[in-house]
Amino acid sequence: MPTSKSDAFVFFGATGDLAYKQIFPALQELIKHGKLDMQVIGIARSGWSVEQLRQRARDSLEAHGGVDKKAFAKLSRRLQYIDGDYNDAATFTQLRKALGSAEHPLHYLAIPPSMFVPVVKGLAASGCAKGARVIVEKPFGRDLDSARALNRTLHRYFREHDIFRIDHYLGKEPVQNLLYFRFANALLEPIWNRENIASVQITMAENFGVQGRGRFYEGVGAIRDVVQNHMFQVLALLAMGPPANRSADAIRDEKLQVFRSMRAMRPEDLVRGQFDGYRKEAGVAKGSTVETFAALRLHIDSWRWAGVPFIIRAGKQLPVKCTEVLVRLKHPPQQVFDDAPGNEVNCFRFRLNPDVIISLGARVKDPGEAMAGHRVELVAHRHMRDEMAPYQRLLGDAIDGDSALFTRDDSVEEAWRVLAPILGDAVPVHKYKPGSWGPKEANALVADIGGWNDPVIEPAPKTSK
Ligand code: BG6
Repeated sequence: MPTSKSDAFVFFGATGDLAYKQIFPALQELIKHGKLDMQVIGIARSGWSVEQLRQRARDSLEAHGGVDKKAFAKLSRRLQYIDGDYNDAATFTQLRKALGSAEHPLHYLAIPPSMFVPVVKGLAASGCAKGARVIVEKPFGRDLDSARALNRTLHRYFREHDIFRIDHYLGKEPVQNLLYFRFANALLEPIWNRENIASVQITMAENFGVQGRGRFYEGVGAIRDVVQNHMFQVLALLAMGPPANRSADAIRDEKLQVFRSMRAMRPEDLVRGQFDGYRKEAGVAKGSTVETFAALRLHIDSWRWAGVPFIIRAGKQLPVKCTEVLVRLKHPPQQVFDDAPGNEVNCFRFRLNPDVIISLGARVKDPGEAMAGHRVELVAHRHMRDEMAPYQRLLGDAIDGDSALFTRDDSVEEAWRVLAPILGDAVPVHKYKPGSWGPKEANALVADIGGWNDPVIEPAPKTSK
């Protein structure tokens, strides 16, 4: 099995949006850090020349983080371009030729899912899949059957440890910190269970709409776009047991246990919403029932978590852009003091963006005679500066053959199994106003656990001159 470093980087969809926004900036950074010492081959069917692709790379870098003269010169020199149709065998013959003596190419499918199968078959038929790895972009399937079918096709030509399913959330620093914070410290594990934890909620709020991606979004909706992947991965990191070690499979085995223990959803545990105005977006059907908001109540039937509600809420056009986890602990068994403690006596808050916060909510006594107090948060806070971009980290890991931050076939399928009963129009979609926290119907899902945690973003501190 090729545990060796990849020796050529091939990306399909070279002239597309993802390459422009994420791939070129990541490639420049990888070159800067000496991690991409190999040829880089872009493939698309845009009728371009390699010069045009170089210009596109430059434009991309100017718009995303800036051009580093030395690194960009190297990238330009290494960059090749193959113009061809993904259904045409000649495209792959050209690729095989361009790969020359490379033995372990890494093929990145930064293309729409409908093109995955023809490209994988083309790679195999031309000999380009031999000794190779493949990176597959999300969404991985659109339900259990399509995910299984895609896994079957991939497995025909690649071994599982050579398949890298991207979920860029896993490449985020604060998401990795969930795993680190949980298992680098001894304090959480003894209380991280149904005896002490009352509920867990994860909110992924975005204060913008579909940003010109109406046509794409119509085919997915919030559940397929961010819940099945990003939110489920965050949930798994919060709920998993301690991994035996930090190897890719030890971590992914523990996550799999979580997905396996998750009960298949029932319609009554889901509220779907659509913001007013979504149907007027370009590419969106006039009578669209696609959700731009989803709130789900999930159950993990395990010894650790039985009876603890896990709530996920994700939506577009909400009041803020923020992803935050709130873990509420149970109340003390006896109320010794008279003052009403409120919903959260103790809680952990993990903010994953726009800044990084880990905090512990607790009560402290007010000065004075009365044994009464107020809530405080003990906060560790960090602004996100100089973070390694998720794509840089993930592409670097795939080049090294490290799949810890990629999703495995079994977990992806389990995640679809959980969501299968509620995909599509299984429950009605409710309208909500842009700038609100979604349809009021969602409140019922959290009525018995102290309500929603609506993240509040403090304005960034003014920098003194
Ligand atoms: C993408 C979704 O996977 O993740 C988008 O397709 C979403 O709809 C985005 O906006 C959020 O990621 P991030 O890194 O911007 O929080």
